[in-house]
Amino acid sequence: MSAASPLTPHPSPVITIDGPSASGKGTVAERVAHALGFHFLDSGALYRLTALAAMKAGAALDDEAAVARLAAGLPARFGEGAVWLSDEDVTEAIRAEAMGAGASQVAALPAVRAALLERQRAYLQPPGLVADGRDMGTVIFPAAQAKVFLTASAAARAERRYKQLIEKGNSANLIDLVADMQARDARDASRAVAPLRPAPDALLLDTTHMDVDAAVQAVLAHYRSKL
Ligand code: C5P
Repeated sequence: MSAASPLTPHPSPVITIDGPSASGKGTVAERVAHALGFHFLDSGALYRLTALAAMKAGAALDDEAAVARLAAGLPARFGEGAVWLSDEDVTEAIRAEAMGAGASQVAALPAVRAALLERQRAYLQPPGLVADGRDMGTVIFPAAQAKVFLTASAAARAERRYKQLIEKGNSANLIDLVADMQARDARDASRAVAPLRPAPDALLLDTTHMDVDAAVQAVLAHYRSKL
């Protein structure tokens, strides 16, 4: 059960960081949470875990009822930089490009989003929360104290994702990455429920020419300006 209606002021502060894939928001959100001693919600991981659970169960990714049932009972655990599905460490598995695409497919299903709603709101605990995703400021925490929409040019985002994959020892093709990223962003922005778009009161932060430190400082400054 959620502690309060999402439209009444939240009992603890919330900073929402939304934006397209590979915009760097995950890293920035985690660093901001660390700087403030706040909890951190990586909502994309829940959609990735749902896609993985569906694949393991042999459910079609467009079988809304079956995928929503899996999402509602997702045996997910987070901790020590790792993610588990039941007893399996799936930290690496959910980061695969295929799982990002799968997540984007299941995320378009209204019943799946509804099944994950309260689980996301339950992350709001004292002393505060930094929530990273696509609809954190628009749907999950509309009364958040500070909202940021973090973007970067498509070229910069593809390059960042490419570097990440190569550093982890994966092979990657920049042309394919750009195509996959554009397909995912288009699906996320055009879906009927909770489409990817900035909340009207969000700070737009373009990090194309900004390093992580500068982006973290900009988010912290925005939050402090709202206190
Ligand atoms: O952020 P990440 O790339 O891990 O998210 C994977 C996918 O999950 C996104 O492309 C999007 O379709 C979906 N997602 C969402 N709403 C969120 C977070 C992620 O629809 N709040």
